Amino acid sequence: MKRHPGIGQRVSLAIAFAAASALCASASGEGRDGPDRDRGDRHDQSQIKRGFEIVPPGVALNLVGKNRALVGLGSYIVNTSGCIDCHSHPSYAPGGDPFQGQPEIVNAAQYLSGGRQFGPFTSANITPDYAGKPAGLTLAEFLAVLRTGHDPKDPPGTLLQVMPWPTFGKKTEHDLTAIYEYLRAIPSLPNNPNPGP
Ligand code: HEC
Repeated sequence: MKRHPGIGQRVSLAIAFAAASALCASASGEGRDGPDRDRGDRHDQSQIKRGFEIVPPGVALNLVGKNRALVGLGSYIVNTSGCIDCHSHPSYAPGGDPFQGQPEIVNAAQYLSGGRQFGPFTSANITPDYAGKPAGLTLAEFLAVLRTGHDPKDPPGTLLQVMPWPTFGKKTEHDLTAIYEYLRAIPSLPNNPNPGP
């Protein structure tokens, strides 16, 4: 009598196949930059969760029309990479400066609205503009600025001089896209009215 493979056998074959492909995908890094990237891999999941936990109090995110996983990952990167040290001025609210031993209160009122001066250079307002574009940049322009240090709106040959684009620009396109998505979700603010060092 001929034996047909039982359902159970087929299911376990399918599981073995899925597991093997998942292994290949993570070995080749496909989980992060492959077609499934927006679903996030397991590594992303803990960062996404942490990302939402560390959005500074007072910074209200607008998730409408945004990719939630990318926003969370973007928050994780932005809020653990020193962006606020240079792009929020002052970085902390009065009485909330961790460098003075005070319990941290991020300056939500100026969150990422720029205005910190480095000699002749002033950090940019990287909150969304009236059209919802962070720093007024499209995603393609944002990726180009981070990768090359050149803002396509500046005269040819101009390079950002303070912004650590040579290091931040080495991140994966997935990570840079997540930063952009997070910046799309934060409140839009006018340029910092009181720039300073
Ligand atoms: C060491 C200070 C510093 C840090 C850290 C920093 N930036 Fe900047 N960034 C600047 C300054 C200053 C400028 C203005 C141009 C320049 O560098 O000359 C700038 C410019 C930019 C621009 C270009 C805006 C435009 O319109 O061209 C973007 C986008 C940006 N920063 C995003 C970020 C993000 C996101 C982070 C964190 C991952 C970050 N920056 C961290 C100092 C910093």
